[in-house]
Amino acid sequence: MGEILRVWGGRPLEGAVRLPSAKNSVLPILAAAVLADGPVVLRDVPDLADVRASVSILRALGLTVRRRGEDLHLLPAAVPGWQLPEAPARAMRSSVFYLAPVLHRAGRVRMPLPGGCKLGPRPIDIHLDGLCRMGAQAACGEDWLELTAPARLRGMDYTLRLPSVGATETLLMAAALAQGDTVLRNAAREPEVRDLAAFLNGCGARIEGAGSPVIRVQGKTALHGARHRPIPDRIVAATVAAAVAGCGGCVTLLGTGEDPLGPVAGVLERAGCHTDRPAPECWRVQRQDDLQGVGLVRTGVWPGFSTDAAPVVAGGLLAARGDTVLEDTVFEDRFACAEGFALLGGQVCRRGRVLAVHGPARLAGARVRACDLRGGAGLAVAALTAAGASVIEGAEYIRRGYADLAGLFRGLGAQLQAAPQG
Ligand code: UD1
Repeated sequence: MGEILRVWGGRPLEGAVRLPSAKNSVLPILAAAVLADGPVVLRDVPDLADVRASVSILRALGLTVRRRGEDLHLLPAAVPGWQLPEAPARAMRSSVFYLAPVLHRAGRVRMPLPGGCKLGPRPIDIHLDGLCRMGAQAACGEDWLELTAPARLRGMDYTLRLPSVGATETLLMAAALAQGDTVLRNAAREPEVRDLAAFLNGCGARIEGAGSPVIRVQGKTALHGARHRPIPDRIVAATVAAAVAGCGGCVTLLGTGEDPLGPVAGVLERAGCHTDRPAPECWRVQRQDDLQGVGLVRTGVWPGFSTDAAPVVAGGLLAARGDTVLEDTVFEDRFACAEGFALLGGQVCRRGRVLAVHGPARLAGARVRACDLRGGAGLAVAALTAAGASVIEGAEYIRRGYADLAGLFRGLGAQLQAAPQG
């Protein structure tokens, strides 16, 4: 259903916010739960649109899934299904995570081609190439995909064409129950890959080196259940921090793990913020000086500046004095939010993968449209920094990654309200 977000901006942010579990950890781990023979409990799972879609897929595959407070409880399927349901599988890219687990469980898997945010071409060739080298056979129609595994998947020594996060996760799940050992080279090093490996190891898998470019997996014949708390969401952390940069104020992030902001902290410090860690599992972000543009920032794979953080940081720096130039090296079409930034008064120029912001700009509330998840969150951050009332249409995209963005920022003194689009 369509949704709008109303924002009355221009107030500094003050207070504390607890980070939810990371969407990008939760989604592959939910798919990996299909591999387990016993009960799985995932702690602190946010009620995101993509989590709901995942739960629909899991139920269609025969698993029992119950939400108990913040936790999800999963029981294995008596008879494992092999067809992913059309609507939820099409609604998100993360349906691709079900390929390997369902192949292991049912010997075949059929799904519509995965959807997700339109950030430019998003092929799944590495997922498929790796699975086929392990013994799967793939057939692909115009808008569907079917894989069969005539025998148990075999371990392999495989170099990824590029360090894709999703493909690394697919191949980790495939390797965990494959016959023999697997070595994945040029693997993605993102913290969420490490977290998936930690979950699988908690279920009895033998994975070493996750978080480095070379991951070694000893294939097991079965995995048991586990309880797992996914890592905190570093993109939610970046969103709040960018909003503090734009609005001013001081916010403490709680339940953060070691370093929730990574390279985003350095960029926001250059912009005039101070970040520190007053206690373990806790980070404070404060704007101390006038907001300054930060020059060139290039996104990259971990430990680089996250592509997902680029639109929210841009939204926070629209009013900065001087120039900020964000170049996304991961996706071709990351900055569809540029049009909305301009309507809010930002002086922006978008060319292909590059978004240039020239300031200072006087931002004022406007009616804008979200075109994707992180771009929508970037618009929300910009609207929080703009004086007056804004309306963000297409806010249902934001629900894919933030359970309640309006409530989160209201808790920090901002005025926002989510409503169905009438
Ligand atoms: C994951 C994240 C997403 C984040 C991205 C990059 C999840 C659920 N989503 O997405 O939020 O923005 O990592 O950090 O974890 N590619 C191919 N062939 C493939 C796979 C990927 O060409 O088989 C390309 C993609 O088109 C893209 C690049 O590799 O240009 C990176 O994609 P990838 O790392 O796979 O991102 P996702 O796993 O889709």
